[in-house]
Amino acid sequence: MKIYKFKEIGSTQDKARELAGRNAPEGIVVVADSQSGGKGRFGREWLSPKGGLWFSMLIYPDISPADAPKLTMLAGVAVVDAIKIFCGVKLGIKWPNDIVFIGKKDDCKKVSGILTEASFKKRKVDHVIIGVGINVNNTVDKKEIPAASLLGITGRMISVESLLREILRQFENYYHVFTESGIGPVWEKCRELSVMTGKRVIIERDEGKVEGVVTGIREDGALEMESNGKRITVLAGDIKVLSSVT
Ligand code: BTN
Repeated sequence: MKIYKFKEIGSTQDKARELAGRNAPEGIVVVADSQSGGKGRFGREWLSPKGGLWFSMLIYPDISPADAPKLTMLAGVAVVDAIKIFCGVKLGIKWPNDIVFIGKKDDCKKVSGILTEASFKKRKVDHVIIGVGINVNNTVDKKEIPAASLLGITGRMISVESLLREILRQFENYYHVFTESGIGPVWEKCRELSVMTGKRVIIERDEGKVEGVVTGIREDGALEMESNGKRITVLAGDIKVLSSVT
């Protein structure tokens, strides 16, 4: 596995895409100390100062376009496991791509975000770039959304390089399980780690807003909900927790 390291970069996603365009092999990783144009979901800005872990991985999975969200689940599980092993901190997954710390007052603080970008050729997935941003030793901007860093949670500095190595090890393991046995084992793990089940939420989707109670996560990564007495599934959207029902 080749790791391309940068002190500063626009976005590791863009660099990984550029490398994919030059037929870079599966498994290359682009990591930067800071990003001047870090990208989040829905084209949002992702603040990436020094002290955090900002990286992108390039893979060429043999999957259909509809299966791309499974890779977000897979990366989420790998990040949570690695942080548990390396920092002793238990985090959860807030569907679909946030890794969060649950505080004493049951408040959800974002520690990490995952951005999965797939490229297609002839209706098939050509390559996928999985970007992971983790607040490690950096200060976090809590103005827009509640956020936390691993330094803030543990009170100690964490080696960003060693954490990256552990995440890549976990990702490789789960990716191997996925290609050998399908998403089943990763899905099980993702359901265990989900902090959304039982919560009343509102989701903004392209088709409009929907409100209801989360009942689970489907095997393909979609969110299962009960809304106005009906069971529905949501493939993608921006989620906001209104209250805890259970
Ligand atoms: C989100 O929660 O909206 C996803 C954030 C993903 C941020 C990471 S940092 C490394 C990689 N490079 C980027 O520009 N974005 C991803």
